[in-house]
Parts: sequence; structure tokens; C-alpha cells
Amino acid sequence: MAIDFTVNGDPVSVDAPPEMSLLWVLKDTLELNGTKFGCGIAQCGACTVHLDGAPVRSCQVPASPVADRSVTTIEGLSLELVAEKWGSGGRSGAPSRRAPGWG
Ligand code: FES
Repeated sequence: MAIDFTVNGDPVSVDAPPEMSLLWVLKDTLELNGTKFGCGIAQCGACTVHLDGAPVRSCQVPASPVADRSVTTIEGLSLELVAEKWGSGGRSGAPSRRAPGWG
């Protein structure tokens, strides 16, 4: 079954069983491996992506309802956006971009 949707701003069409989870569509079909498999039961959040701007556990979302919708994965986030959401290194405790001693 062809499923058309948008990933990180790009239109895609995948041939996948409608019951296949969005997680495996992203990883196996589109080779977007930034989204991780953890528990597989919607508990850990390792598979979280944004679906039309709202976070979802992609291990629990079947592929078919994603048709004509917009998915954002970690690959679709800019470094600037990640830094903005985490805050700057010294203030929030987020890791800095450079490790000590690496120049
Ligand atoms: S893999 Fe743990 S919530 Fe999806």
C-alpha cells in the first residue's frame, strides 16, 4: 500500500503494510535512523517524532493514518533549534558542543 506523507519537509511515498508502525517505516523504508527503538510499548519515548507538530510514540502509530500528514524526526531539527530547546551549555546543564581539551 502506497502511503504519501511529508518527512522533515520533504514529500515521500512509501510502499508499506498499513499496520506497519511509523517507527519501522522511518527506519527501514526511509533509512532515517535517528529515531530509536527502545521498549516498543510506548513507555520510553526513544521513538518519539512529531506528527503535525505534536509528539507521538512512533512505535505505536500505524503507518496508514500518517497519510497526507507531516512527520518531523530528529534529522529534521536544526542544531540551532536543539540548542534553543536545551538552552545554552552553561546555564541549563546541557552538554557543550566541544569536550574539554579538544580545542
Ligand atoms: S520504543 Fe519506547 S516508546 Fe516507542
